[in-house]
Amino acid sequence: MTNNLANDLLIRAAFSKPTERPPVWMMRQAGRFMPEYWDIKNKYSFLEMCKTPEIAADVTMLPVDLLGIDAAILFSDILVTGEAMGGQLSFEQGVGPRFANPVRTREDAEALRTDVLDKLQYVGDAIRAVQRRLQGRIPLIGFAGAPFTVLSYLVEGGSSRDFKRTKLLLNNEPDLAHLILQKIADVTVDYLNMQIAAGVNALQLFDSWAQALSWDDYRVFAHTYNSQIISRLHRKDIPIISFCKGSSVFAPVMADAGPDVVSVDWNADLRNIKDSLPQGVAVQGNLDPFVLYADKKVIKEKILQLFERMRGQDGFIFNLGHGIMPDIPFDNVKYAVEVVKEFRF
Ligand code: CP3
Repeated sequence: MTNNLANDLLIRAAFSKPTERPPVWMMRQAGRFMPEYWDIKNKYSFLEMCKTPEIAADVTMLPVDLLGIDAAILFSDILVTGEAMGGQLSFEQGVGPRFANPVRTREDAEALRTDVLDKLQYVGDAIRAVQRRLQGRIPLIGFAGAPFTVLSYLVEGGSSRDFKRTKLLLNNEPDLAHLILQKIADVTVDYLNMQIAAGVNALQLFDSWAQALSWDDYRVFAHTYNSQIISRLHRKDIPIISFCKGSSVFAPVMADAGPDVVSVDWNADLRNIKDSLPQGVAVQGNLDPFVLYADKKVIKEKILQLFERMRGQDGFIFNLGHGIMPDIPFDNVKYAVEVVKEFRF
């Protein structure tokens, strides 16, 4: 049993078992809103931080020690799979991620490697380093990018507002898109199984940009591969959370892929989403992260409003609808965690 944890609120909620209060963690909790993050970031590049297990573990532990959250999430990035497959990845300050050799042609796609676990061993080492520090206090969440979202970065060569090239590929050359997606899916299965073997207690699949897709395209180009990944994991007692911005629309399809939890953005009424999903599928979310810029009184009101909606519901993990922005005041994030932890159903 991997989940022999002092605080197993997240695991219980993920499996829709009763909890005395909702567990709390926040996407991008291991990041730039913490001054302590900058103390480390000023000395190393982002990829150096990800690839040096002791540094990745230090950053993973920052929100554990400073915020008292109920789950740690590994400090890494969804694009490390794309890099291992052959993408020349860099992160430039103020620019975001960049692949210098975008995947645009059949030759580019064929050149992508799938036998890459040896290149990702540093992630396994970071997981083991974190678990040595956590000592079973709270669960550690591992993660990967979903094939469509990783494909969008490989094809665009970086972040995109409109996913123009990606959609052109899906529309004009669907076979080529499927070739790339299948390769990413195969790598992601190996990668997540490696994270399980290294000792993560839960997993999250990030399909951050699938909201760009139409209903039909979501099924063909995202859902197919997410289902495949979830069914190919050797995960026994390890819950998996499926995240997509756009989950207020796609939630029923996301649930159909077989995750334990669907992570919901802030457009949706979380209770409506929960009620619309099959019994036993938990939800995660869905505070608008911009609320964390507001006055503490407002932060508390909005969190309690969400809890009022979810009262009496098992299978609820408190999170934001998307990640914490880098300029949100640390004190406000800490306060939000306190409000959640004081609450009782
Ligand atoms: O959640 C956590 O705290 C764990 C670590 C984590 C990071 N990225 C650290 C990071 C996780 C889970 C991710 C996932 C990720 N990465 C996603 C999916 C989540 C989401 O937000 O939808 C995506 C789309 C990426 C790709 C990515 N990585 C982008 C677009 C950027 C630039 C963002 C920006 O605003 O500049 C990154 C860089 C990144 N990933 C940083 C961090 C802490 C910033 C690096 C820095 O310090 O400069």
